[in-house]
Amino acid sequence: MKKILITGCLGQIGSELTMRLREIYGTNNVIATDIRRVEDNEVIESGPFELLDVTDHKAMLELAKKYEVDTLIHLAALLSAVAEQKPKLAWDLNMGGLVNALEVARELNLKFFTPSSIGSFGPGTPAKNTPQDTLQRPTTMYGVTKVAGELLCDYYFEKFGVDARGVRFPGLISYKTLPGGGTTDYAVEIYYEALKNKKYSSFIDKGTHMDMMYMPDAIEAIIKLMEADLPKLKHHNAFNITAMSFDPEEIADSIKKYIPEFKMDYNVDPARQKIADSWPDSLDCSAAEEEWDFSPKYNLDRMTKDMLINLSEKLELPLPNTLK
Ligand code: SER
Repeated sequence: MKKILITGCLGQIGSELTMRLREIYGTNNVIATDIRRVEDNEVIESGPFELLDVTDHKAMLELAKKYEVDTLIHLAALLSAVAEQKPKLAWDLNMGGLVNALEVARELNLKFFTPSSIGSFGPGTPAKNTPQDTLQRPTTMYGVTKVAGELLCDYYFEKFGVDARGVRFPGLISYKTLPGGGTTDYAVEIYYEALKNKKYSSFIDKGTHMDMMYMPDAIEAIIKLMEADLPKLKHHNAFNITAMSFDPEEIADSIKKYIPEFKMDYNVDPARQKIADSWPDSLDCSAAEEEWDFSPKYNLDRMTKDMLINLSEKLELPLPNTLK
């Protein structure tokens, strides 16, 4: 990776990945794109930024040519809960954007990354220690686009030699940019509410385990996979990765270690609960560990501590006494 074009740079992953890649590869070698422009944004202000609608193949091709990039990181997509409300838009954006991006990678011989998700699995998938290669029959539109996307990346690799890589991300937790309408978002909201109000009503029910990861580990995973030697990658695309698996009680208990007065109750959202129930409880990520040395650093308590410290600063709220 020397010169990189990113789509969806203002999203939850893009906003942090762009800044980290600019640190490593140089500001002018990371071209950030998004469908919208916002004021006072560090991604837009810190380096090259272009407006791009990923359903416009010609526009994407022109930008990749203009900046002479060698790598395309395609992040623009709708998340699970929003996709369930707007399934046709999710298909058009998630699949239309991906096929355009893969075409650009084929035409210009670019290295390629796009994320898949735990959402690519379904109720028939083994829920515990979910294998790398297993049954994938998702019951959400998001999942349908993610499985189809994995297959499309395999196809472009086999048929055209596009070096298309990817991971199946679990729920991603971060303090910088909010996720855009996913099922795992409760595990981000809970930290905001813990600091603001010392209580949270979870829209995911007790006992519902899902895989999760702290954003710094997710960013390092993308970079590590992209820098791995291709011959070492047996799977190259759609690697299971995870850093922890917890249910709402466990994340609440972790918060209580730092904010003892924190209280949680439940106000379950049936739509998002149904999605969560169709996803695995915990992934087996041995293929990622063996093939490119995936090794996350944050467990639940370490993440909780870091989230509370950084969020209290961002929200200008007092740091919990236990962290002073
Ligand atoms: N975090 C995503 C979602 O909830 C899963 O990939 O949609």
